[in-house]
Amino acid sequence: MTPLAPVSEPFERFIELLASARAVGSGRLPEPTAFALGTVGEGGRPSVRIVLLKAVDERGFVFYTNYESRKGRELLANPHAAMCFHWQPLERQVRVEGEAVPVAGEEADAYFASRARESQIGAWASQQSEELSSMDELRERVAAVEARFANQPVPRPPHWSGRRVNPSSIEFWHAGEFRLHERRRYERDGNSWTMRRLFP
Ligand SMILES: Cc1cc2nc3c(=O)[nH]c(=O)nc-3n(C[C@H](O)[C@H](O)[C@H](O)COP(=O)(O)O)c2cc1C
Repeated sequence: MTPLAPVSEPFERFIELLASARAVGSGRLPEPTAFALGTVGEGGRPSVRIVLLKAVDERGFVFYTNYESRKGRELLANPHAAMCFHWQPLERQVRVEGEAVPVAGEEADAYFASRARESQIGAWASQQSEELSSMDELRERVAAVEARFANQPVPRPPHWSGRRVNPSSIEFWHAGEFRLHERRRYERDGNSWTMRRLFP
């Protein structure tokens, strides 16, 4: 029988690893929350880019982006996402697969309000993934947004929000000697997980 693990187990394991990655320090691991996000486009073609993890708990893994960007449009058409963290100094990798669902508006508002004003302005100014004629065009758009919201808080743009990847699987990889790496794959099974070891 494959052993069943409580819902919290892989999340606790992930949160511990993320804390270890943060503790490495910015000199050796400048972006411990960075991960590769894979999405599926037309014709089943994959695309991948780096984004930052902004929250994690038993509901899933949250990142923020422009909903009209390439990844935003792809996730709207097909919510299946794959994530991959690599913490090289720890010799660890974590892979997550699941459906990416929009976060609640209030949650996105609270996170947006915590961002630097310059980043808030950038979220309005950037038509992420659209063609840009020149960097001057981008600077002009930034200036226009600054003028629009002068002397007032910058609200969250309607096209900018978070998605939470609700995992159906989480796999932990730990480098071993002579390529005898350890892999543990958790697969969601209702209110618990099955955990299987995989050959490296
Ligand atoms: C270290 C790093 C962190 C990034 N974080 C984010 C992020 O949190 N959200 C985001 O939308 N793009 C982020 N980006 C930019 C994306 O990699 C990507 O260029 C952009 O989102 C457009 O992707 P798309 O055209 O596939 O939608 C980050 C890039 C790097 C290198």
